[in-house]
Amino acid sequence: MLTVTPKTPSPSPFLHEPLPKSQNPNPKPSNSHQIHCFNGSYHKPTYQTERGLQFETEDTFFRHESATGRDLGVLSAALYKQSKQQLRVLDVMCGCGIRSLRYLAEAKADFVMANDGNDAHRRVILGNLKSIERGSGDEKRWVVTHFDANRVLSECYLKREFFDLIDIDSFGSDSSFLRTVFNAVKRDGLLYLTSTDGYSSGGHRPNK
Ligand SMILES: C[S@@+](CC[C@H](N)C(=O)[O-])C[C@H]1O[C@@H](n2cnc3c(N)ncnc32)[C@H](O)[C@@H]1O
Repeated sequence: MLTVTPKTPSPSPFLHEPLPKSQNPNPKPSNSHQIHCFNGSYHKPTYQTERGLQFETEDTFFRHESATGRDLGVLSAALYKQSKQQLRVLDVMCGCGIRSLRYLAEAKADFVMANDGNDAHRRVILGNLKSIERGSGDEKRWVVTHFDANRVLSECYLKREFFDLIDIDSFGSDSSFLRTVFNAVKRDGLLYLTSTDGYSSGGHRPNK
């Protein structure tokens, strides 16, 4: 099991509302421009690039500084795929969907479930994954869902839909998800646990 603990200030625990702008660490690129929608409203795309992939973050929680943490997850996934010839990923707290996009594009995941409890992120996540053909039926490469983490993990277990790699990138400690995540991961599968502003369950405390 691989655990990484970036030490960063986090917003409040899980909320169903988008983060207030004052808490959102996303840098707003100076070339942002507004797109007017048919209903008269507009949204401001905030394009980012990571390892050559372009994506939008808007009001989702996203930190460029976590790129190395995402690299390690993608590297583990790519090595797993190379050795097992299969890779089903559950990205439990996907934010804007950057990890899901990278698991699909870089690790060549066969299937990714991109979940985030906040359904206000849906448009951004769908937009970010649309460069990867979605497919259909048994060939489906990705889906986007909006369940609480413990619920999605429990439902996967009950439906016997197990995953090769489960990525949980939580605000604060991941300890409340450990019981359910072990039920949803395949035998010999990988758990990738990162926690913003909290100690990881791997007990990694380099200063102690
Ligand atoms: C640290 S951010 C994820 C960042 C993203 N993984 C990345 O690498 O950019 C945590 C995300 O988890 C979602 N979240 C928080 N608590 C959750 C819960 N209990 N169930 C599902 N999603 C949750 C939040 O909406 C937020 O988008």
